[in-house]
Amino acid sequence: MSFQPVSIPPSPLPQGETLSILPFSDLHLPKPSAQTILDNRAFLDRMDFVVLLGDMVGCYATDREYGAVREFVASLNRPYTPVCGNHEWYFEEFAEDSGLYGEVWAQASNAEQRAALEKFRLFYGVKELWRSFESPQGHFVFLSLDVVESQKQEVLSAAQLAWLAREVERAGEKPLFLFCHAPLMLRKRLEMTYYEEERSGCVELTGELRAALEWRAAPSFWVSGHVHLHPDHALFPPYRCGGNVWQIHCPDSWGFGRWKREHIIPAFYDGPFSRHLEIDAAGVWFVTHDHRNQSERERFRVDF
Ligand SMILES: [Fe+2]
Repeated sequence: MSFQPVSIPPSPLPQGETLSILPFSDLHLPKPSAQTILDNRAFLDRMDFVVLLGDMVGCYATDREYGAVREFVASLNRPYTPVCGNHEWYFEEFAEDSGLYGEVWAQASNAEQRAALEKFRLFYGVKELWRSFESPQGHFVFLSLDVVESQKQEVLSAAQLAWLAREVERAGEKPLFLFCHAPLMLRKRLEMTYYEEERSGCVELTGELRAALEWRAAPSFWVSGHVHLHPDHALFPPYRCGGNVWQIHCPDSWGFGRWKREHIIPAFYDGPFSRHLEIDAAGVWFVTHDHRNQSERERFRVDF
């Protein structure tokens, strides 16, 4: 193994009367925005749990990128759990000094993708790419993109989908919080273009699993990143994407995003922002935070 694993291992979800959860998506380390976030110490210390929501690595999950993630996790020094985005395993790797680094986005071979998924497991010391926790506030599910045979990146394997179906059942009448790198599509595409017209950019659930989610009386919250939305984007306010299923977009935590529907490709902006959850017995606040100004930008409440 030519890379060092994390010095602080992942944790289970804390159990308390209230729960604040801070997802970070699309940091693409190393990036200067990481320091802006780490400088916001008082804010970080208020968070009970962090979700590394995928695309923590810059481009291709190189050893150097994982070195930066290792430093970030150590400096963050909060309980956390990690899931895979697409950049953790999907793309063919080019070395930093190759002249092609960050320029070429080719699908890696199945063998290379499997090796990259194994690298993710070894780096964080996790056996499985997906996991769940129960807390007084609800049922919490953490999903990883993981289908190496597929050209589409935002896909969950048959094994993970079968597991997810059982988790939805287990959630029963409790609120269900699903964390996944990519947004959710039940019946309608996102009202935006994700690089190319034909790409939905979403995990597309169908059949019995979709029905099971749509029929739940208690709310479900699908918390995701991947599409790099600035908080000004029309899709940013929480919305129901079917039944009582809420789509919660987290901003990219880099400062590279889309703030208008017409933005097919992200652009640089002054950031970074994050969106965290403050959950109590009666509902959840979704809070957008501006890390540059270390100030709260907006909050949105959903009662259970
Ligand atoms: Fe992504």
